[in-house]
Amino acid sequence: MHPLSVTLFLVLVSLTVTLDNGLLRTPPMGWMAWERFRCDLDCHDDPENCISEDLFRDMADRMAEDGWKELGYEYIIIDDCWMSMLRDEQGRLQPEPSRFPGGIAKLARYIHDRGLKLGIYADMGTHTCMGFPGTTLEKIEIDAQTFASWGVDYLKFDGCYSNPIEQMLGYPLMSKALNATGRPIAYSCSWPAYLGGLPPNVNYSLLGDICHLWRNYYDIQDSWDSVQGIIEWFSNNQDDLQPAAGPGRWNDPDMLIIGNFGLSVDQAHSQMALWAIMAAPLIMSNDLRNLDNSARAILQNKVAIAINQDPIGVQGRRLLQEKSHIEVYWRPLSQSASCLVFLSRRTDMPHLYHTSLAKLNYEAGNYQAYDVFTGSKLTGLNAKTEFTVSINPSGVVMWYVYPEQRTLHSQHNKPEPEHHIVL
Ligand SMILES: *[C@@H]1O[C@H](CO)[C@@H](O)[C@H](O)[C@H]1NC(C)=O
Ligand SMILES: *[C@@H]1O[C@H](CO)[C@@H](O)[C@H](O)[C@H]1NC(C)=O
Repeated sequence: MHPLSVTLFLVLVSLTVTLDNGLLRTPPMGWMAWERFRCDLDCHDDPENCISEDLFRDMADRMAEDGWKELGYEYIIIDDCWMSMLRDEQGRLQPEPSRFPGGIAKLARYIHDRGLKLGIYADMGTHTCMGFPGTTLEKIEIDAQTFASWGVDYLKFDGCYSNPIEQMLGYPLMSKALNATGRPIAYSCSWPAYLGGLPPNVNYSLLGDICHLWRNYYDIQDSWDSVQGIIEWFSNNQDDLQPAAGPGRWNDPDMLIIGNFGLSVDQAHSQMALWAIMAAPLIMSNDLRNLDNSARAILQNKVAIAINQDPIGVQGRRLLQEKSHIEVYWRPLSQSASCLVFLSRRTDMPHLYHTSLAKLNYEAGNYQAYDVFTGSKLTGLNAKTEFTVSINPSGVVMWYVYPEQRTLHSQHNKPEPEHHIVL
């Protein structure tokens, strides 16, 4: 056979395996080092913040003790820069001993003992993005085995220093290799981001059979510009991206940066709201040891989390872009409920936006709305009722909307099932 036909044949063989192992039926929640701590190797002058086992133990302690775990945040994920520059004599990856003296298996036990899960990072290619040892095609199996032997629960597989043919072979092969370890390991693929993120370069129905989640677009940075750019790209391309998501398969617009330096309180509300609309992973990258109360309250908002984690797993969409720079987003939820987000892209002052549920495609009937960030409740909202919301510049109003309980039923009728989000 011609080498290219061999290649395509291998791809087709490898793609017949489906990664349907029951993991990530809702988007993953947790914490990842990259956006906040990058590749800080300076444990001498910056011991609190360098990439070391102490940093991940600290975050595991905070996650277990500060109420995060109970809300569903569970993965502690190591990103790039954990490795030694050299593989061991058996060709296995190993952590840099000065920064991870106890090794990854011991760190995994520490994290598991606190009821949490450990994620790790590798790169399909000759080197990781920061120049540490990569996972070339012939190393895929041994690296998957190594991670499983350490007790790793999640792999972020980046794609620096490889070409599209190697990626086409390598990402499915890693999926098979992880499955072959027998350990359930959530699999996050950076593959689409290296292919421009859109069809025809990316076939999302195929990708969902290989990976549990995937990065489609550029890395998030600590700024509102970056968050806006991501929201814009995902919304402009929602016809391709939205149908790709569902239980066990998620688009990943990248980490939550709430609690860092770049977002105002309103902008932090906006990131949380839009990540809930997009059924995005809720993976924070911040310093859980130093969070102010407003960041904590936003990240721990139970209704925002419940919307993000809705069991039917349908990703939401941008419904409208008004000339006034107000945008309306909508996500259908279980139990006939839904989420509406009114986002202001204005830069002047709070804007009064007038609309009705009927104008936003809601069926006739009466509804209730719960304002996710203020906790206020609107009852008796007919679909035709005109209402006004006041939206701060670069902020949102986020509503959980559900049909009004019918009160005219005779006593013979069974009571309506309880709403799954308790308000
Ligand atoms: C491996 O794949 C099979 C078939 O999709 C699945 O049933 C099984 O749960 C997977 N095992 C692991 C450990 O991922
Ligand atoms: C995408 O992959 C699926 C297999 O999962 C295949 O049936 C479909 O034809 C592919 N679509 C395109 C446009 O290649």
